[in-house]
Amino acid sequence: MSKKILILGVNGFIGSALTETILQRTDWQVFGMDMGDDKLKESLGHPRFHFVEGDITINKEWIAYHVKKCDVVLPLVAIATPSLYVTDPLRVFELDFEANLHIVRQCVTYKKRVIFPSTSEVYGMCQDDEFNEETSTLVLGPIHKQRWIYSCSKQLLDRVIFAYGVHEGLDYTLFRPFNWLGPKLDNIFSTKEGSSRVVTQFIADILHRQEIKLVDGGEQRRSFTDIDDGIDALMRIIENPEGKATGQIFNLGNPANDVSIKELAELLVRLVGTYPGYQKVADKVKINAVDSKHHYGVHYQDISRRVPSILRAQTALNWQPKIDLKTALKKTLDYHLANAGEKLDEE
Ligand code: UGA
Repeated sequence: MSKKILILGVNGFIGSALTETILQRTDWQVFGMDMGDDKLKESLGHPRFHFVEGDITINKEWIAYHVKKCDVVLPLVAIATPSLYVTDPLRVFELDFEANLHIVRQCVTYKKRVIFPSTSEVYGMCQDDEFNEETSTLVLGPIHKQRWIYSCSKQLLDRVIFAYGVHEGLDYTLFRPFNWLGPKLDNIFSTKEGSSRVVTQFIADILHRQEIKLVDGGEQRRSFTDIDDGIDALMRIIENPEGKATGQIFNLGNPANDVSIKELAELLVRLVGTYPGYQKVADKVKINAVDSKHHYGVHYQDISRRVPSILRAQTALNWQPKIDLKTALKKTLDYHLANAGEKLDEE
């Protein structure tokens, strides 16, 4: 049956990729709101894509109307950049928690299915070898380590959504992306030093500054996940065969792509050097260690290793991430380097 999908934050990294896939693979309608549309070139103008420019904290009537009208709601608006957790923690709380709570409540009121982005960050500094949705403990640092306001806001919303599920019958699925990456993660041209997530940051550092900064030496590890694998899982969650995604939390990550940030930096530099005309750029890149206190400030604290257990998504959704790190990085570099030539010459 044709579905009506409401995506708030449709111009984001996940929202824009999801919209493209929905329009390509299904007969569903997408209703989307965002403050910009620069990532939506492939979807704008499509007869089943209904876009409106707006702010979820202001355009509340539009949202209420569309929550009522649609079958599934994906509230994807959030600040998800660690540098902002420490420089603008209140805005993180207001947007990621307060504004989204309002939308979750609308889904309760109108009895609509909500698919909500939790985060790998809820596990914090958990020491488990693999983080498990059911059994892992969520470990956060002290209050003055403001980095955790994002994790804590997301965790509280997870708990609120869960409680609405148990007590008021809210139909929900929570998904936890583990370092998804891809072409439109962040914009490399508006990337100021230290302001972007690591893959885009490093690509910008290689192309613009020829210096990569490894926070506290870069021994910390992440499990990187290609956006296409992530979107594949999200499509299965929306389709929800036999209701298997209902009332569930899913880690969506690729445990096979667990690398240190230092290894990531070295691999990226090597890969950039394989593109025609970029060997010299790659040769010039310096990789230096920096202290997190200087890079992010004293309110930052890091996660040393973050590997998901994906058994639940494998079993319930029959999902398997397929794209290895090198391929994922190449896809991202193909996009940025194809668009970089002109801009680089301008600098
Ligand atoms: C991210 C963000 O919080 C969210 O995007 C998201 O919820 C979640 O994790 C996720 O995608 O799973 P984090 O992995 O710490 O958090 O974000 P990055 O900014 O991509 O940093 C990854 C690692 O690289 C950190 O240890 C950071 O210190 C390091 N880094 C970052 C550097 O060494 N140098 C840099 O220039 C930037």
